[in-house]
Amino acid sequence: MSQHKDVIVACDFADKATTINFLEKFTTHKPFVKIGMELFYGEGPDIVREIKSRGHKIFLDLKLHDIPNTVQRAMRNLARLGVDMTNLHAAGGSAMMQAALQGLEEGATGQRATLIAVTQLTSTSQEMMNKELLIGGNIQNVVESYAANAKASGLNGVVCSPLEAGLVKAACGAGFLTITPGIRYPDGEIGDQSRVTTPADAAKIGSDYIVVGRPITAAEDPVAAYGRVLKDFLG
Ligand code: C5P
Repeated sequence: MSQHKDVIVACDFADKATTINFLEKFTTHKPFVKIGMELFYGEGPDIVREIKSRGHKIFLDLKLHDIPNTVQRAMRNLARLGVDMTNLHAAGGSAMMQAALQGLEEGATGQRATLIAVTQLTSTSQEMMNKELLIGGNIQNVVESYAANAKASGLNGVVCSPLEAGLVKAACGAGFLTITPGIRYPDGEIGDQSRVTTPADAAKIGSDYIVVGRPITAAEDPVAAYGRVLKDFLG
């Protein structure tokens, strides 16, 4: 499993050239990088090999959700790419989560990748969950219950809002990782995020990894912005 407590830079860029151009600014400390669906599906698995070969750790954010056998085999291939962290939807169930772990172990070239679950997407509202997905009850309880399933299946943690990190830790224990986006400074643009936290507050609440995109990628000086976030988060 990867080292705990770090800043993950969300490389939400359209293509490889823009991503590499951005990453080349970081000459001394190579940040942990998140690659999402846009870049992965646009550029293919080589984008992972390329960034990895430049010395970055990689969180591949593809949120797998399929039958256990398919997820196991897909995870085996993602592990072969050398990803350090990846994720799936806890809604796929315990058998799928256990199969995913098995796949990651089978394909691991060194240490097994950290496996993280998505509980409920932040785009899912209480009303949508109840009326459209037909999942009853309070969304907070569903998040806690899915997190507990992920833990029982052997996963390492969940993606959640920094404001939920304390609840997840209370439900699943301090060792269960919380990976939290929604990081902003009061002096910065909020963009489309609604409930935000500063890096220092995320650390206080119990986030293990913060995922930071635009406050770093859109900054005038991304290296300085990254340094500020890192210092404030790690203390
Ligand atoms: O630019 P920004 O800091 O808002 O980027 C946050 C990153 O975290 C984006 O890649 C976004 O897709 C991701 N994310 C999120 N909220 C979630 C899950 C993932 O913002 N609930």
